[in-house]
Amino acid sequence: MTFTVRAARAADATALPAIEQSAAELFRRDPSLSWLADAAVPQASEHSPAIERGELWVAENNDGQLAGFLRAVTVDRQLHIEELSVSQHFQGRGVGRKLLLAAIEQARLWQLRAVTLTTFRDLPWNAPFYQRMGFALLSAEDTGAHLNHVLRDEIAHGLPGERRCAMRLVLTPSP
Ligand SMILES: CC(C)(COP(=O)(O)OP(=O)(O)OC[C@H]1O[C@@H](n2cnc3c(N)ncnc32)[C@H](O)[C@@H]1OP(=O)(O)O)[C@@H](O)C(=O)NCCC(=O)NCCS
Repeated sequence: MTFTVRAARAADATALPAIEQSAAELFRRDPSLSWLADAAVPQASEHSPAIERGELWVAENNDGQLAGFLRAVTVDRQLHIEELSVSQHFQGRGVGRKLLLAAIEQARLWQLRAVTLTTFRDLPWNAPFYQRMGFALLSAEDTGAHLNHVLRDEIAHGLPGERRCAMRLVLTPSP
């Protein structure tokens, strides 16, 4: 099965909550995080602004079924990844990597400075994966105002702060 990544269209929004809910099932592997699998996810309408900005990408299989999505927002000339989700059924087949590469490529085309995200330090499908993709862990001093705000907000929503981290991939202009 092959997957294509493309910019999301308005009509795709309705499929995104179910993808995010399904993706979150993976957190049941860590009993202390299993509540994340039961937590509410953003409604379809909450994805619409990012779709209109062109900052949401979907991965589609050859039957036209959506397997995953990546939603981002540009802050201070850095593309910040707000959400990356792949439906449970499609996980482990390179879809997440493909979505991430597409967002990085777009950030380069937009001549942005970097791609950023926050994630779990210790889950194998989170920080270690992003590190293999070239992202670096940010120290407290290097975490800018926006990422600090995101991390604080996550803690306020119950995420364990000591397990969360901010990461950045610095983009060098193409020759
Ligand atoms: C993170 C996520 C989007 C990855 O999507 P995916 O399509 O399964 O990922 P891929 O198949 O492209 O694999 C990406 C990497 O993660 C690793 N990985 C994926 N699932 C894994 C798992 N269950 N256990 C360990 N490693 C895993 C793969 O080995 C791969 O690394 P590599 O390409 O360097 O070898 C998906 O696991 C997901 O939706 N998770 C729940 C939500 C989440 O954690 N989102 C990220 C928030 S920052």
